[in-house]
Amino acid sequence: METKVAIVKDISRDIEYIEEAGKVIREGGTVAFPTETVYGLGADALNEDAVKKIFIAKGRPQDNPLIVHVASKDISDLVKEVPKIAQELMNKFWPGPLTIILEKKDIIPNVTSANLSTIGIRMPSSKIALKLIELSGRPIAAPSANISGRPSPTEVERCVEDLNGRVDYIIGGESSNIGVESTIIDCTVNPPLVLRPGGITLEMLKEINSEIEIDKALMSKPSDDLKPKAPGMKYRHYAPKASLKIISGKNEKTIEIINQMMENYIEKNNTVAILTTDENLNKFNKGEVISLGSENNLYEIAKNLFESLRKCDDLGVDYILCQGFEEYGVGLAIMNRLNKAAGYDIIYV
Ligand code: TXA
Ligand code: MG
Repeated sequence: METKVAIVKDISRDIEYIEEAGKVIREGGTVAFPTETVYGLGADALNEDAVKKIFIAKGRPQDNPLIVHVASKDISDLVKEVPKIAQELMNKFWPGPLTIILEKKDIIPNVTSANLSTIGIRMPSSKIALKLIELSGRPIAAPSANISGRPSPTEVERCVEDLNGRVDYIIGGESSNIGVESTIIDCTVNPPLVLRPGGITLEMLKEINSEIEIDKALMSKPSDDLKPKAPGMKYRHYAPKASLKIISGKNEKTIEIINQMMENYIEKNNTVAILTTDENLNKFNKGEVISLGSENNLYEIAKNLFESLRKCDDLGVDYILCQGFEEYGVGLAIMNRLNKAAGYDIIYV
């Protein structure tokens, strides 16, 4: 399959690319496009054959439902009802990184919802994404634009790396500023339940309704007793090729342990990358040391997380040792993604 790659530098000047990509969606093709969270791989959410192409391009398990992207807060065509709390969340956080789960109408085919009676809907804030949805005239089903299991792309180059030859069109032009996927909140239960932490933090959601809680299964290894409620959260995910280990605890202690582990690996002729903060950059004696950002700005760390994991793969290292972060605010999303990327290989020191 031939993939067209187009970079939108200026929305009004380059509008023809978005129009062209919109036509691809309308005609049942696949388009990777930027959003503020991560890049998405989109198709017409109402077209069964088009949606199937997404699963094939990504190698995605069929029991993992897709999020439907819209360009307006009027979603009455897509869902049976919008409870008051969902309306409040939409008013406060849309457009933006919040996906709301509601009971779907039959117009949404079962491939899109992976046979669930519910559907996740999100109105992204990315200007390119909104324009694409508008010009396509369709709700766009879009998972992250990576091969299943790999770190989600936040730069167009990474979409090309994963999807060139597998999709019809790739639009670039924006980096994803949030860097972790949207927060998912299930509004079919009362009180609503967070199924995946993301850019909209639990603390922000609790301001709307203090009873909102987070799925208990999210921060530990899935087991038979405790399964995450979002089907996608049970898979190994976001994983670099290298073996990733998280070392979490007091800063000085984690540095000491990482230095020790690194010595061991290097002695055995392994190569090592370290993911740390600006403040700790010069505290490691060996290895490829990469900063995720300042320890004072977890949003910067979230933005750089997936791209840094991919950079480690570019370096071809055998091991990645990553410092942990506090599980608060957007730190909860960071640690959720890191835990999954590491297959829950986390050491508390
Ligand atoms: O930020 C995002 O949400 C990005 C961008 C492209 O918008 N999309 C994204 O999609 O992260 P994806 O497919 O990588 O993750 C969707 C997650 C999966 O874990 C899936 O199981 C869950 O959402 N999900 C979707 N629909 C659901 C539903 N009806 N009930 C429960 N979980 C659902
Ligand atoms: Mg994904």
